[in-house]
Amino acid sequence: MIPLMKNAFLNEYQTKEELAKFILHTDKFSIDKKCAEFEKTFAKFHGVKEAILYNSGGSANLALLQTLKNLGKLKQGDSIGFSALTWSTNVMPIIQLGFQPVPIDCEPTTLNVMSQNLVDRLKEVSIQAMFITNALGFAGDLQNVQSICNENNIILLEDNCEALGTELDGCKTGTFGSMSTCSFFVAHHMSTIEGGMIVSNDEEFAAMARMVRSNGWDRNLNSIQQHHIRAKHEIKSEFVAKYTFYDLGYNLKPTEITGFLGLQQMQFLKDNIKIREKNFYTLESTVKTNPDLVDLDRSHISLLSSFAFPVLCKSKKIRDQYLSQFAGAGVEIRPMIAGNIQKQPFYGKYVSDFYDLPGTDSIHECGFYCGNYPELSENDLETLSSCLSKY
Ligand SMILES: Cc1ncc(COP(=O)(O)O)c(C=O)c1O
Repeated sequence: MIPLMKNAFLNEYQTKEELAKFILHTDKFSIDKKCAEFEKTFAKFHGVKEAILYNSGGSANLALLQTLKNLGKLKQGDSIGFSALTWSTNVMPIIQLGFQPVPIDCEPTTLNVMSQNLVDRLKEVSIQAMFITNALGFAGDLQNVQSICNENNIILLEDNCEALGTELDGCKTGTFGSMSTCSFFVAHHMSTIEGGMIVSNDEEFAAMARMVRSNGWDRNLNSIQQHHIRAKHEIKSEFVAKYTFYDLGYNLKPTEITGFLGLQQMQFLKDNIKIREKNFYTLESTVKTNPDLVDLDRSHISLLSSFAFPVLCKSKKIRDQYLSQFAGAGVEIRPMIAGNIQKQPFYGKYVSDFYDLPGTDSIHECGFYCGNYPELSENDLETLSSCLSKY
């Protein structure tokens, strides 16, 4: 059996040992120094000023949109574009917070929204923000997407939960938008069991994102930010300040275990990306020889940080044959993320405007993926290659 994932952690045994020691010796489990250290390390990895840690990637997505709403940068009823091939909790907060979701089609050969897809949608509808998903380690031509957003006054946001470490022209995905999110759920590039992050260069945004994370209070702001907000609201005593709730928020806080694990896993991330990238190229070389399968276009990607191997067949009928080929060899596979999100039951319950999404439909119907992780042995890679060979 080749499962979608094998281990919860990079360097699993060592990480579990270190975690056990941490748990035995720490006397602080709620959000504190380890979370702050992980945030700093993660911000440095991306070359940005701010990183804010959450209890999941979905929480980071929710907090990101709530933060923009609290700051008045987005308002009730605004239209938000999103990649039609994405995860549920990329779209759900758009609906939950009273925005209009506008799906943007994805290009089958790159699995992502390309600038042309965005240009095409903007001919029909205007949007105030674009929440793009960098799907399955791939990404669209984000430099062009960024220019279009700048020209049209659209706030660009990236859901980078599936592409941590991917680079276009040496620039990391997650740094093209004004803010981006990441997930540390098991089976992603690195895991804190559950966990997520927002990264941004905008300090005002980051301060609000920390309040949104923690009930709307100011306890995780620095002393200058606290002074500022307390003065604005004429809060004079520490006694009152501790229980003053300034804006809409949630409890989306991580624990010190999240922070500790994040710091541990960051040590192994770069080497890990290299191994997965090598696995990817090995499997890709078989795809290139098989006329049943689409050779995905990654020519615009300078570093592909993969955690899964996406397979796109030339028709649904062919896909069904390959599903049996993989299942017969004991390889666990799954649909491409959540497929065309418009087809999910929750979407039709709350949204009435549907769009034609031919590219995403073809990914939905003709695609699937298997896992790509460092523990794949030579034997595993041979099994996967033989499954990818002509049926
Ligand atoms: C694109 C994308 N966004 C958001 C998420 C949510 O992350 P989490 O599971 O940490 O809530 C996922 C999870 O798989 C994802 O793939």
